[in-house]
Amino acid sequence: MKALVWDSIGKVKLIDKDMPKIEHPRDAIVKVTLSSICTSDLHIINGYVPKAKQGITLGHEFVGEIVSLGEDIKNLQIGDRVSANCETFCGECWFCQKGYINNCQNGGWKLGCSIDGCQAEYVRVPFADTGLTKIPESISYENALFVGDILSSGYFGAELCEIKQGDTIAVIGCGPVGICSMQCAKVMGAEKIIALDIDQTRLELVKSKGYADIIINPLTQNVENIVKEQTSNRGADGVIEAAGGKDTFQTAWQIARPNAIVAVVAMYEENQVLPLPQMYGKNLIFKTGGVDATHCKELLNLIAQNKISTDILISETYSLNEIEKAYELFEEKNNNCLKFAIKSS
Ligand SMILES: NC(=O)c1ccc[n+]([C@@H]2O[C@H](COP(=O)([O-])OP(=O)(O)OC[C@H]3O[C@@H](n4cnc5c(N)ncnc54)[C@H](O)[C@@H]3O)[C@@H](O)[C@H]2O)c1
Ligand SMILES: [Zn+2]
Ligand SMILES: [Zn+2]
Repeated sequence: MKALVWDSIGKVKLIDKDMPKIEHPRDAIVKVTLSSICTSDLHIINGYVPKAKQGITLGHEFVGEIVSLGEDIKNLQIGDRVSANCETFCGECWFCQKGYINNCQNGGWKLGCSIDGCQAEYVRVPFADTGLTKIPESISYENALFVGDILSSGYFGAELCEIKQGDTIAVIGCGPVGICSMQCAKVMGAEKIIALDIDQTRLELVKSKGYADIIINPLTQNVENIVKEQTSNRGADGVIEAAGGKDTFQTAWQIARPNAIVAVVAMYEENQVLPLPQMYGKNLIFKTGGVDATHCKELLNLIAQNKISTDILISETYSLNEIEKAYELFEEKNNNCLKFAIKSS
């Protein structure tokens, strides 16, 4: 079968690989229908993810159809349409029992990182009974593609902020994660969303779609002043940092009101400074995290009820044969793309 592998720093390659097989009673083999390219894939190929292995099939966000099941899987059937969780988790260890699946002692981020991922025709999914969620009939593969990674990450950012009815939430970054965070924050009761980005096209998109109420471009506007004006001079009740830019961590704590939660879901390529003397007395709560993607079923239900939609994120669809070109275009951020979907079958 065809599979896209991490070849060397900055390079990917579409090659022929053996079909995956069931290796464990909790495995499933999924025929990939659609997968996506994620910014995290770019972090891998540029060498910023230490546990990633060269030669691995990339990709951790996908939907597809189950073609084979290990004998211990009781909650899924061959032929089921499923959406995959970007995390591999056992559901049984100390961390999984508490919902902290990102730190599963028997899993973690594996697919497309330390074991073969989904930018291929077929993929082996370990702990498939916890990692795959059946897609309701009313939802298309396209509607469900981002549930296990980008949408879960956006939801996670909003969840970390412990949003209360009427809150004003600032979201830094209007990329796919930021867009999902904005929608989830509204579902959780946020009244006003303030969106920040240096990309004016993305800012205007989130405003026109109603995901954000106020948009700010830090390149041309005074962020702190506008956030204060919008919040009776207090600052945002919660801040979701989904940009990962050079100065966005600093912006995040500066625009938060005292006693707010700052949720950092962005993945930085460099260390960040925590200027404790300057923030002393502001009594902020910082939360960081790789997503604990434990709400896939709930998110599929929210999509079915039209409360959340990620359809807008698919800027372009390419076939698996065209994936090398898609990587190049995605890295160059050509044509104002948000996400590319890759059709495997
Ligand atoms: N925590 C997790 O589990 C998890 C999961 C998925 C993605 N991520 C991370 O979340 C981040 C966002 O992902 P994405 O797919 O939306 O990425 P993206 O690159 O498409 O979006 C980031 C946005 O931030 C904006 N930005 C950059 N610098 C800025 C600045 N100085 N001020 C304001 N905006 C700025 C960019 O213009 C862009 O629109 C990435 O760092 C990604 O690695 C984390
Ligand atoms: Zn991802
Ligand atoms: Zn576990």
